[in-house]
Amino acid sequence: MTELLKVENLKKHFPLQKGFLDNLFAKEKRVVRAVDGVSFSIQKGETLGLVGESGCGKTTTGRLILRLLEPTSGKVVYGGKSIFSYSKEEMRRLREKMQVIFQDPFASLSPRMTIGEAIGHPLKIHGLAHGKDAEQKVMDIMEKVGLEPASFLYHKYPHQVSGGQRQRVVIARALVTNPEFVVADEPIAMADVSVRSMILELLIRLKEEFDLTYLFITHDLATSKYICDRVAIMYLGKIVEMGPLKEVFSKPVHPYTSTLLAAVPVPDPKFRRTHPIPKGEIPSAINPPSGCRFHPRCHLASPECSREEPPLREVGKNHWVACNLR
Ligand SMILES: Nc1ncnc2c1ncn2[C@@H]1O[C@H](COP(=O)(O)OP(=O)(O)OP(=O)(O)O)[C@@H](O)[C@H]1O
Ligand SMILES: [Mg+2]
Repeated sequence: MTELLKVENLKKHFPLQKGFLDNLFAKEKRVVRAVDGVSFSIQKGETLGLVGESGCGKTTTGRLILRLLEPTSGKVVYGGKSIFSYSKEEMRRLREKMQVIFQDPFASLSPRMTIGEAIGHPLKIHGLAHGKDAEQKVMDIMEKVGLEPASFLYHKYPHQVSGGQRQRVVIARALVTNPEFVVADEPIAMADVSVRSMILELLIRLKEEFDLTYLFITHDLATSKYICDRVAIMYLGKIVEMGPLKEVFSKPVHPYTSTLLAAVPVPDPKFRRTHPIPKGEIPSAINPPSGCRFHPRCHLASPECSREEPPLREVGKNHWVACNLR
């Protein structure tokens, strides 16, 4: 397998907006440690799931990989070079190859553009097709994502179609430039339960058809099971466990992963949970706990866990875990 993308010790600290006096007297600049030293690679053709509770830094990681944000430090290597040192022209070409599907199709579509115009917009920006040729390309992709009849829906506005259709529009727009890598940020979270599995199946089919590589972001471990080859579990800006999907699901090593798995509903009335759901609230990314960030919520934590920050260690083939106790 060939490596498509590599993330090296990526960090994004957002400065906290505070009053003038606070800033004047503060001993050090306060920041939100949204992403705090994340490393992983993605092989061509695979789907890596980035999974974790709300606010753990999944979207920020995705936005950094697409260079929609500049990092505090670290690298995203694509084509042998960090994208943060790409020139404007290199970035323009890269944007054709790297696309994104956002969570909220309503927010990511202009109400003033018809569906056909919205899907064709990237072709215009990248100068890939014009006029009738562009229109044909849009119709083709609309049919591939199940927006039919394409000639009818082409002229509709986002508010005139269903939620499931809007999500298909966002997917079509991401694929119209024929990308090789797609960040799908909670692509089914806003969709009605009845259309979720259809959208997931569509993403899986399109991956084969277009030879795609996905970074699939979700807060729901159960969803990752249907689409991911590997998963990376994130907690407060860090990856705590990463490995092949089957291995992480059958032999989770980090206590956080075990508790996330235990929260996945099981259709069996006799089923008893063996691990408690993570206790307490997620601590703040402004002032993360010392040592292992998960220790205040961990049912196995020992005094050592609040002192030493565990590094990611390989515990099995391609299976990495950051825990002092394992
Ligand atoms: N532009 C910003 N300025 C300041 N803080 C930010 C900004 N964007 C994100 N954050 C903070 O960074 C942290 C991580 O946010 P992020 O959106 O990456 O999380 P997430 O895992 O995608 O969460 P969710 O599941 O809710 O989408 C949060 O504490 C968030 O409040
Ligand atoms: Mg998010």
